[in-house]
Amino acid sequence: MLKSFDIYSQNNILKIIVALNLLLVGTGSLLYTNRLISRLEDREEHYVQLYAKSIAYLFGSNSINAGDLNFVTSEILEANKSIPAIYVNPDGQIAGKLNIEVPSNLTDAEIEQFLRKTIDEMRNRHQALVVDMGNGERGLVYYNNSSLLRQLQYFPYALLTILTALGVLAYLAFSSSRRAEQNRVWVGLAKETAHQLGTPMSSLMAWVEYMRSDPAQYDESITDEIEKDVRRLETITARFSSIGSIPTLKDENLNEVVQQFTDYLARRISTKVKMSVSSQLPANQTVKINKLLFEWVIENICKNAVDAMKGVGELRLNLTPLPHQEVAIDITDTGKGISKKNIQKVFTPGFSTKQRGWGLGLTLAKRIVEEYHNGRLFVKSSEVGKGTTFRIVLSAER
Ligand SMILES: Nc1ncnc2c1ncn2[C@@H]1O[C@H](COP(=O)(O)OP(=O)(O)O)[C@@H](O)[C@H]1O
Ligand SMILES: [Mg+2]
Repeated sequence: MLKSFDIYSQNNILKIIVALNLLLVGTGSLLYTNRLISRLEDREEHYVQLYAKSIAYLFGSNSINAGDLNFVTSEILEANKSIPAIYVNPDGQIAGKLNIEVPSNLTDAEIEQFLRKTIDEMRNRHQALVVDMGNGERGLVYYNNSSLLRQLQYFPYALLTILTALGVLAYLAFSSSRRAEQNRVWVGLAKETAHQLGTPMSSLMAWVEYMRSDPAQYDESITDEIEKDVRRLETITARFSSIGSIPTLKDENLNEVVQQFTDYLARRISTKVKMSVSSQLPANQTVKINKLLFEWVIENICKNAVDAMKGVGELRLNLTPLPHQEVAIDITDTGKGISKKNIQKVFTPGFSTKQRGWGLGLTLAKRIVEEYHNGRLFVKSSEVGKGTTFRIVLSAER
C-alpha cells in the first residue's frame, strides 16, 4: 500500500500560481513596452523625415522662397527637442545638427571628429534618410532614438529583473518560514516526548529497585528483563531529549561506535539477517558526532533494510575514507530495492510504503545527519529486487 500524506502539495500549487502570475506580468509588460517602443520609433522617424524634407525645401535647388517656410522648420525644431539628428550635405560636409550636445572647449577639428563618431553610432541604429536636393544631388540625415525612447528600451529588462528578484525573495522567505516551522514542530515534539516519558520512567526504575529488594517474591531473571527494557526506554528518552536541544558533538572512534552498535542491533533482529561491518578507515579514526543520535540514524536505516529484506538477507556496513577529509558509512541491504520514482520521496515526512509505517524514520535520520552533524544522507544506489545502499557522509576535519 502506498501512503503519502502530501502535506506540502497545496503549497506547491500556490507556488506554481505565483510563478505563473509573475511570468504573465513579465511577458505582458515586455510585449506592451515593445509595442509602445515601435510606435514611438515610427513617430520619431516621422519627425526626422519632416526635418529632412524641410532641409530639401530650404536649401534644395528648386527651393521655394525660404522665408515662407521658415516657420515650418521652427515648428519642427520646436516640436522635436529630443531626437538627435545630423544633416550631411551632398558634398559630404556636416551642415546641420539637432539636439546634439557637443562638449564645450573642443577645437573645430575635434568637434568634427565628435560628430563623425556620433554619425557612426546613429548609422548602427537607423538607416539614414535621403534628402533629395534636386539636380540629382542627395544629402543624408542621420538620427538616433530620443533619450526617452532609449530609456524605455531598458524598462522591460529592469522590470523583469525586479520581478525575478521579487520572486526569488518571496520563495526564500516562504521556504525559510516553512523550514522554521518544521524545526519548531520537531524540537517541540521531541522535548515534549522526553518530558512526558521522564516521570513514568523514574517510577518504573523505583519499582525495579523494589523488586530487587525482595528476590524471594520476584524472580531475579524477570527483574533483569524488566530492567533491560527500562534502560532501553531511558535511551529512547535521552535521544528525544538531545534532539530537542542543541546536541553536543564529541570526538568518537567511528570504527568502534559502528561495530558496537551493530553488535547490539544484531542481537535484536532476525538471525536470518547476516550483519557485517568492514572498514577501510584507520583504526583510530575519530569523527565528531553525538553518539546517541548517530546510533539512532544507523538504527533507522538498518531497520528499514531489515523490513525491505522481509527479515532474510545480508546487511553490510562499510566505512571508507573520502577525499576532502570526509568519511562515508555505506549501509547495504539485499532487499526489495526502491523504484526510481520513489527514491526522491523516501526522505519526505509521511512517505511510507508500509502498512504500519509513519514515514518519519528517514526524515529524522536525514535531519540528524544534516542539521546536527553537518553531513549528508542519501540513497547511493538502489535496484528493484536486488537491494539498496544508503550513504552517510560525515566530515572528519579536526
Ligand atoms: N532499505 C530500503 N529498501 C527499500 N525501501 C526502503 C528502504 N529504506 C526505506 N525505504 C522506503 O522508504 C520509506 C520511508 O522509510 P521511513 O522514513 O523509515 O518510514 P517507514 O519505515 O515508517 O515507512 C519506506 O516505507 C520504504 O518504502
Ligand atoms: Mg523506517
